[in-house]
Amino acid sequence: MQVAPLPPPPPPQQSAGPADGNAQASVDADAAEHAQQQQGEGRTAAVPTAPATAPLQDNTYMSREKRHTERERSGELTAKYVKNDGSIENGRLLTGLKNVFSKCLPNMPKEYICRLIFERRHKSVVIVRNGSQVIGGITYRTFPNTPAARLGEIAFCAVAQTLQVTGYGTRLMNWTKHYARQMDGLEYFLTYADNNAVGYFSKQSFTKTVSLEKDKWYGFIKDYDGGTLMECRIHPTLPYAGFPEMLAKQRAALEGEVKRYTTGHVVHPGLPHWKQGGGPLPIQDIPGAVEAGWSHAAGMMYKQYSIAMNNQILDPTQDNLHDFMTMLLKKAQKHADAGPFLHAVSAADVPDYYSVIIDPMDLHTMEERLLSRRYYITLNMFAADFYKMVKNCQLYNGAQNPYFLASKRIYDMFWAVMRSSILPNLEAAGIVEPKL
Ligand code: ACO
Repeated sequence: MQVAPLPPPPPPQQSAGPADGNAQASVDADAAEHAQQQQGEGRTAAVPTAPATAPLQDNTYMSREKRHTERERSGELTAKYVKNDGSIENGRLLTGLKNVFSKCLPNMPKEYICRLIFERRHKSVVIVRNGSQVIGGITYRTFPNTPAARLGEIAFCAVAQTLQVTGYGTRLMNWTKHYARQMDGLEYFLTYADNNAVGYFSKQSFTKTVSLEKDKWYGFIKDYDGGTLMECRIHPTLPYAGFPEMLAKQRAALEGEVKRYTTGHVVHPGLPHWKQGGGPLPIQDIPGAVEAGWSHAAGMMYKQYSIAMNNQILDPTQDNLHDFMTMLLKKAQKHADAGPFLHAVSAADVPDYYSVIIDPMDLHTMEERLLSRRYYITLNMFAADFYKMVKNCQLYNGAQNPYFLASKRIYDMFWAVMRSSILPNLEAAGIVEPKL
């Protein structure tokens, strides 16, 4: 059989006996991570479930994959493609795998596991530590010279209990896809996943939708009760065994591009100016402001519009802006529909309000911000808070609710005044009217 080139094999290890210092340290790291996962989710070692938190960030995934890849490079870990070809070495590895499956899949009769693993149409990919200790594996069946020739049926999949949920299962599946494509020419995997393992298979790109034509799998794979049929397409070219390197290169390229156009990655030390009793600080003196694109011309943009107020046409100085916003806020507070919006919603009256609305706003809070004279330095900021208040009302109550319709009437008044007061028009002044 033609064997495609694989990443360099690790040097053989003599035994699974006492681990050396580094290997022990890495085992301890796995054990700690495993224990943390178990503790954090309050579950037993035998049936791990996905963390209840949001999906892991790439860096966690990457650091696990990198850690295992480094172990592969150092020879501590090896992924091997094994079938029962009569050799002593393969027989020993398959026996080790049978032991892992027997412990991790207690509902499967040992004889059944044994029969399938050693049956010649079944292939296994095993993860071996220190040259001989089998710590996990996947066994799949192939159907050569049949309509299901492109298909592999995963019969068993397990990682030793103390090492679960520390990334070995992901590495194992990646190697299995790699070998199944290279050695057996497979394009699809199907499996009946145990219900408690559906989450794991989903994260390995298995779906509950079977896209392979029915005549290419139906009648070939074994039916299991209580499992969920899942499919994974094996990509023809993805470097499954080299994901960390590929992702690291993609990330570096992307970050390089982002850095070319932004300065967000440059962190300046905090400003001691106000601690030292300083007054207003010119924007151009703030480190990074000019580099981030601020210019005096942009800063002076407000000069390009006027405010019509009290039968006068006024420049948008900070004082005039303040007076204009005060006038507008008072109008809103006196509006016939203003009642529910005058103060923050009371959590005692509406217990679930703050679990739905995470960024609340009300007219009183706006008044306090306005009075501070430091908060609303542009009309856009003032309008944004007004919009937030009305949008929250829509989010919590729905678009047909009387409270929302009331807030909408105040909102319409707000923007009618803005449109008639900002000259020549809102667009020229760079003021955006957000649509509800
Ligand atoms: N349910 C839901 N999510 C899981 C499960 C599970 N049972 N196991 C792992 N995951 C998640 C992990 O949290 C992780 O998510 P993250 O990337 O967001 O952190 C992701 O799947 C990959 O986890 P790994 O650590 O790479 O997987 P692990 O080394 O634990 O191996 C396996 C997974 C093989 C299911 C292992 O937990 C195991 O042996 N379990 C017991 C035996 C078993 O149930 N085997 C499958 C039976 S079905 C069949 O064989 C066809």
